[in-house]
Amino acid sequence: MINITVENHAGERHLLDVPEDMGLNLMEVLKAYEYDIMATCGGMALCATCHIEILEGAEKLPESNDSELATLDTLPDADMNSRLSCQLRPDQNMDGLVIRLKAFHEV
Ligand code: FES
Repeated sequence: MINITVENHAGERHLLDVPEDMGLNLMEVLKAYEYDIMATCGGMALCATCHIEILEGAEKLPESNDSELATLDTLPDADMNSRLSCQLRPDQNMDGLVIRLKAFHEV
């Protein structure tokens, strides 16, 4: 189990316990915690609704793949700390990560 801090759209932070051995990607973990992520592409790096900003720990993450980079490129609010959470698989390197939810969709 690792810990990831998530800042929601209201600026509130919560510390999540995240299993790194269940085969879930970070988007699926966030949805399991009932964060409002549509994930309309099902984790294919296409919809960008799982867009997050890495506030702390970015240097410990694996490089973005081509699909992730191509999708991030289409976002007006993406910057060098942007990632698609569906493309990140929790592992020990992500312990202590601090992220902020970016994409926001009214339900
Ligand atoms: S869930 Fe669609 S890009 Fe991540």
